[in-house]
Amino acid sequence: MTTQTKSLYDRLGGLGAINAVTESWVARVGGDDRANGKFARTDLPRLKKEVADQLCEVTGGPCAYTGRSMRETHAGMETTSGEFDVVMQHLGAALDELRVPKPEQGELVELLRPMRDDIVEVESPQTGTPLPDSYQAAPPLT
Ligand code: HEM
Repeated sequence: MTTQTKSLYDRLGGLGAINAVTESWVARVGGDDRANGKFARTDLPRLKKEVADQLCEVTGGPCAYTGRSMRETHAGMETTSGEFDVVMQHLGAALDELRVPKPEQGELVELLRPMRDDIVEVESPQTGTPLPDSYQAAPPLT
């Protein structure tokens, strides 16, 4: 197969690469006070599994994402546009760390960027805002 006909999933390096990106991305966001407050009650094994499944699916890999919709998941979190940008910066850093070439990075970002409207609830550059008490985190996967 030529590069052009291979899925983004294959060009990234398959499931191993998807899992490595997920680990690095979640760790980077988790270590950043500008965004990690939102994850205060999150079950991290679930988060990693769902994010990896979603990245695999959207890039054309052999996975089926079975988690909640982006709107339902992020509703009531009061995520700001500034926090969204922080999370996307960490995705870029994770992709750099794994030496993903810039064209493939760009393709992945373009696949995720349309989700912004379902995630950002507060158009503000502010970061580090707390998770509202009313937000109900998803239960661990069984
Ligand atoms: C394009 C960017 C993003 C993508 C692709 C994404 C994707 C996901 C996915 C797949 C889940 C798992 C859903 C489930 O468990 O059913 C999730 C959960 C979560 N996301 Fe995002 N997300 C993004 C941006 C953000 C941002 C900017 C924030 C806030 C700073 C955020 C905060 C969370 C939190 C806290 C959870 C866990 C919710 C819970 O505990 O139930 N996400 N996200």
